[in-house]
Amino acid sequence: MENNRPVIFNNTVLRDGHQSLAATRLSTQQMLPVCGLLDEWGFGALETWGGATIDAGLRFLKEWPFDRLDAMEKACPKSKQMMLLRGQNIVAYAHLPDDVVEAFVRCSAKHGMDIFRIFDALNDPRNMRCAIESAKKVGAEAHGVICYTTSPVHSIEKFVKLGCELEEIGADAIVIKDMAGLIPPQKAYNLVKGLKQNVKVPVWIHTHETAGLGGATYYAAVEAGVDAIDCSVVPFANGTAQPDTIRMLSLLEDHPRCPKVTARQREILAEVRKHLEKVYGELSKFTSHINEVVDSDALNYQVPGGMLSNFRNQLKEYKMEDKFNEVFAEVPVVRKALGWIPLVTPTSQIVGNQAFFNVKMGRWKQLSKETLDVALGYYGTTPSPVDPDLQALAAKQANLEPITCRPVDSPAVKRKGMEDLRKELAAKGYPTDDEHCVIWAMFPQQVDEYFKAKNAPPPPPPPAATLSAAPEPAQSSGFAFAGKAHMRLSVNGHQHEVMVEEA
Ligand code: CO
Repeated sequence: MENNRPVIFNNTVLRDGHQSLAATRLSTQQMLPVCGLLDEWGFGALETWGGATIDAGLRFLKEWPFDRLDAMEKACPKSKQMMLLRGQNIVAYAHLPDDVVEAFVRCSAKHGMDIFRIFDALNDPRNMRCAIESAKKVGAEAHGVICYTTSPVHSIEKFVKLGCELEEIGADAIVIKDMAGLIPPQKAYNLVKGLKQNVKVPVWIHTHETAGLGGATYYAAVEAGVDAIDCSVVPFANGTAQPDTIRMLSLLEDHPRCPKVTARQREILAEVRKHLEKVYGELSKFTSHINEVVDSDALNYQVPGGMLSNFRNQLKEYKMEDKFNEVFAEVPVVRKALGWIPLVTPTSQIVGNQAFFNVKMGRWKQLSKETLDVALGYYGTTPSPVDPDLQALAAKQANLEPITCRPVDSPAVKRKGMEDLRKELAAKGYPTDDEHCVIWAMFPQQVDEYFKAKNAPPPPPPPAATLSAAPEPAQSSGFAFAGKAHMRLSVNGHQHEVMVEEA
């Protein structure tokens, strides 16, 4: 049936907008002045939490994650709150047990989270099922995500099939997540059409303007009957973030599905922009011109825009600038060997790292711990089988057998459940409620630092321009991504520092 309803506009400025353009550094205090305005506008949902905001907020801004959620709920009482959740990873980088996932979702819903947008870096529904079921159990909306990517083994038909599987396990909507901004309009049209013909639940789309396709892609998706699109607000819009709301409204002007927008709503967007421009200036340490402009390079290389700037920075640091093309040529080699995994947090970092190692040390001469885990099935089922030679090499190096079960069910990996976490918190003298347990499960070091900072005497006030800018921690050795939030990757107990560039 044709969709004639006005397309719903969601707004991402409080999450993906600043994650994509300002290294996730927007603080709750900087958000609050626009919350009432955003709430009044009447967006379908406000994306306010999740992705990298929980780690970055705790690490750099020393904000307790649930405090921000409370503040958003209070300041935007009319709007639905939406968050991005990495399936069994929650918002971390390793798989967590079911009781931790369940507790996290329960706590978040209690603090006002309405929509859980749930994805898995490998598009493995087994890694999304627990989060989807947990959200439904507490009466929240569970949205199942398709991570869009290009490869010889990905096709519109397979993505539609995944959408059907997600609906079957309970997803209340299917979201096309184009984290790299790579989906061209006609493909978006075909994918939305295919999903609309095969699933009963609403279909939403999320893209980035990185390569300049975003606006046209949304237009095509609206033509195909998509129910909702994600936009942001300048200056935290366009470039590597979502298309700007006003721009998208103009792109849809006179389209039968364009929502009616009042003069007051336009005024609101202008007021939001005015405040955010001031904030953008305050965050100048974390913004960069290369992220603000449309660059078709991402299309040439078929990787997220953030990966391009990360490679440039890192190769420069290692005085390997002349190897740029070589490292990029290695990305599809690594992806192919690892079963054509999509490039999204954390797999974009894993593939980027390994491509760099392959060029620096020789192909497969040094395998990262994460490469071993992907090759052995510890992240889930890859879109196509892992190269058997690489898998054999990985099994030998890791001294582990490949697995085919849901990774979190593997007995090879010891994982801490809620009661173990509670004991650890008690031993530390920290609060032992569920909220502290779930954050501790993901970010123990940041929690330690948070309590240390909280209990320390207040430092002298910094100059106004850097009020919210915590100093960058020292870079660890090895290939650390630069330019976005600096994250700790913990896989099977091994800790790795990486940069997260998109979620
Ligand atoms: Co995004």
